[in-house]
Amino acid sequence: MIYTEKDKQYKRYTVTSALPYANGPVHIGHLAGVYVPADVYVRYLRAQGEDVMFIGGSDEHGVPITIKARREGVTPQDIVDRYHKIIKDSFQELGISFDIYSRTSSKEHHETAAAYFKKLYDEGKFVEKVSQQYYDEEAGQFLADRYITGTCPHCGNEHAYGDQCEACGTSLNATDLINPKSALSGSKPVLRETKHWFLPLDQDEPWLREWILESHKGDWKTNVYGQCKSWIDAGLQPRAVTRDLDWGVKVPIEGTDGKVLYVWFDAPIGYISFTKQLKGDDWEKWWKDHETKLVHFIGKDNIVFHCIIFPSMLHADGSYILPANVPANEFLNLEGDKISTSRNWAVWLHDYLVDFPGKQDVLRYTLCSNAPETKDNDFTWKDFQLKNNSELVAILGNFVNRTLVLTHKFYGGKVPSFDASHCLPMDEEVVKELATFPERIGRSIETYRFREALAEMMNLARLGNKYLTDTEPWKMVKADPGRTAVVMNLSLQICANLAILCAPFLPFTADKMHRIMNLPAMGWRDAGRADLLRGGHEIAQPELLFEQISDEAIQAQVDKLQATKEQNALNTWQPAEVKPAVTIDDFGKMDIRVATILECCKVPKADKLLQFKLDDGTGTPRTIVSGIAKYYTDPAALVGRQVCFIANFPPRKLKGVESQGMILSAEDKDGRLVLLTPSDVVTPGCQVG
Ligand code: 2FM
Ligand code: ZN
Repeated sequence: MIYTEKDKQYKRYTVTSALPYANGPVHIGHLAGVYVPADVYVRYLRAQGEDVMFIGGSDEHGVPITIKARREGVTPQDIVDRYHKIIKDSFQELGISFDIYSRTSSKEHHETAAAYFKKLYDEGKFVEKVSQQYYDEEAGQFLADRYITGTCPHCGNEHAYGDQCEACGTSLNATDLINPKSALSGSKPVLRETKHWFLPLDQDEPWLREWILESHKGDWKTNVYGQCKSWIDAGLQPRAVTRDLDWGVKVPIEGTDGKVLYVWFDAPIGYISFTKQLKGDDWEKWWKDHETKLVHFIGKDNIVFHCIIFPSMLHADGSYILPANVPANEFLNLEGDKISTSRNWAVWLHDYLVDFPGKQDVLRYTLCSNAPETKDNDFTWKDFQLKNNSELVAILGNFVNRTLVLTHKFYGGKVPSFDASHCLPMDEEVVKELATFPERIGRSIETYRFREALAEMMNLARLGNKYLTDTEPWKMVKADPGRTAVVMNLSLQICANLAILCAPFLPFTADKMHRIMNLPAMGWRDAGRADLLRGGHEIAQPELLFEQISDEAIQAQVDKLQATKEQNALNTWQPAEVKPAVTIDDFGKMDIRVATILECCKVPKADKLLQFKLDDGTGTPRTIVSGIAKYYTDPAALVGRQVCFIANFPPRKLKGVESQGMILSAEDKDGRLVLLTPSDVVTPGCQVG
């Protein structure tokens, strides 16, 4: 039996995964938080023979998409067409097994979302409100959420958005911002009246409280439950579900030109409209039958939308089921820093697939074993390498390979028959233990503990390795062929079990194992048995399941990130603060002069230093040592150039050379030092001031 929340049995499963915004590609944070766990879950349910529908698609509305389009001088449709394709193709290549991956800019979606809104509108489920909203007089349009930036009243961040401050995470109203500014024209927006429709969440509070805080206590994850509780306890407010914008699903009411549905109203309806696209007339049972289990896989920033707002929309309609669970994950960081699209601090899936061809399962494995299930987690390339080399190669790959190689060596690739009379108690123990894995792994998956489930699957490979190491069949094959056949038969049975049990996590590896071992199609219920392979069953030549990942391959990725870091530092460069004021007398004390370079060479045994011989007009050449060797690699080429120097700087010894002053240079934003040269040739020794 499938274990489910409160042990309820279901006839079918509607599994949704958050619709990624089509304004950028998908990165490892999305994968670890949402898509890998969701895919493991649905693959497992399918292996259990359950009726499952797995929904995915691109979220193609919202202000960030319009801002990006404006910045690039293209249409929002151009932007979403570009990223929808990248996202869809890369998901497919990673083996995320959606039954449909659609998009919210599709005609069908617009029709479904508009009809959904219209029904609630006709039934009087919304509250109409005229409110003051920011308007950009230069651009001639209202400014939705992200079109306004300003200072966060909570933390002082000067780049907070009209709906949220990303520095402190507080959700804001545009009118909360200090010094609001239009992202369109940069001008100061003015308040103007506009009419919008609100979902009266305040009226939903009693049933939401009972449904989430009472009936889902204990079965929803602590992070999800906790966030819901704090929203409900803080008192729910009516929420606007329309916006003044020209990109999105048009509000289906006469005389509302220039208004669209709020992206967070239309996007979750995408789950429903995609179901209609997939199932046609048969769609309703996936959303309206109480024997359907609805599960939303999301990241923690989507909790309120999936646990409170979308349920309130479903409840307002009245004919829909509510989610049975919303297993939201926390966030994945990258090399100790928050993943950020704008800073390009991410490992992009489409790049990974190019850099590591054929290694989809390595990424799936690393992300699943590192999934941020209970707290934020970190992805590092070193750990990725370690997970591959020390776990996939050394444990799973090694066990399967050893077993298959020995089978070929001892039996010409044919599974030896199992004769119980040659069994020892330790073999029986292995059989017994093997039988416990499917349920253990399954229970962990069904309770959304995917890391634990994956670790259990690897424990079966560990059991296999230990069994081979303890029994050493290669030592007894001559002396005790009967027992050797038992050991090899059992090892092969473990391999066949692994092919079933690893499939939700490592589908490409499972397919390879099926092919090599010539296995028939099997389900989860076949697993746990020690008679999956009959005596005489032929297996093909072994192939390695995984390969080592080299230090060079990892270093290339680390270098890529380092380059991003350096680029970001350049992008965020700002001139240094002006120093405290000085007097004309202070300045007068500095004796800055011009000199002509007579000679220039590197200081021996000092990477950074150049030694200059200067004509300073006195008739006696002046020596100055300067730390700019890194930026002027051909010192001789400097001869004849003029530089500025401080003549009354106290002499000091640098690497044994006495330096009589300081040559002036400017530090550019990348740290590069550049010599200051007069724009016209002047007489050596003349003063600067
Ligand atoms: O946070 C996001 O990336 C949203 N695009 C998720 C939408 S999920 C659903 F409601 F469509
Ligand atoms: Zn803030």
